[in-house]
Amino acid sequence: MKIVNINASSNKTSSLSTAYAEKLVAKLVSKNSGATVKTRHTTFDKTPFIDDAILDGLFVNGERTAAQKEALKFSDELTNELIESDVLVIGTPIYNFSVPASLKAYFDLIARAGLTFKYGEQGPVGLLENKKAYVVITSGGVKVGSEADFAGNYIKQFLGFLGITDVEFIPLDLLMFDSETKIAEADKQIAEL
Ligand SMILES: Cc1cc2nc3c(=O)[nH]c(=O)nc-3n(C[C@H](O)[C@H](O)[C@H](O)COP(=O)(O)O)c2cc1C
Repeated sequence: MKIVNINASSNKTSSLSTAYAEKLVAKLVSKNSGATVKTRHTTFDKTPFIDDAILDGLFVNGERTAAQKEALKFSDELTNELIESDVLVIGTPIYNFSVPASLKAYFDLIARAGLTFKYGEQGPVGLLENKKAYVVITSGGVKVGSEADFAGNYIKQFLGFLGITDVEFIPLDLLMFDSETKIAEADKQIAEL
């Protein structure tokens, strides 16, 4: 089993979403001997925004120039490791009703026409089939899945766009109201995996 773990919190030392994503990964590894894990932290790894060089390389018909290939190098790396993976584990907080900007930047780099999705006659078709995703998502006051949640709902939409439709959420939400219950529920959910 190949696991890709993407963490997005800006809290480097005591992030709950990162801790629980790692806990979930540890559980998967314990159940699948030989499992490999590639972990990335979208903020601390300095995930770039799409700039003019990357944009220039993205939508090219035919052979890319050396400069275009160079601009897409990191995007290629992220995309290929995801294509080769079996399981994606995302750990993310809700920031200002949405995902942290660095996670959005990561998503921008893995949405690759011809690699992770294609344009079919009926519209876009996701190319990442037979993958499972777990999304550990933390929040202070926004309920995951509610109308005000532009993070969880967005992640589900985006992963579906890439073909990842088997998505399980581990919500550690509404922590400012009752963190103990939420943490106990997340522990139970992970223990039952
Ligand atoms: C910059 C920032 C913006 C936030 N915006 C929201 C928000 O819009 N809605 C919400 O419910 N919580 C918000 N929170 C609270 C975090 O989602 C919450 O503290 C979460 O548990 C942090 O997860 P972490 O420990 O993994 O970093 C925000 C926190 C920060 C630091």
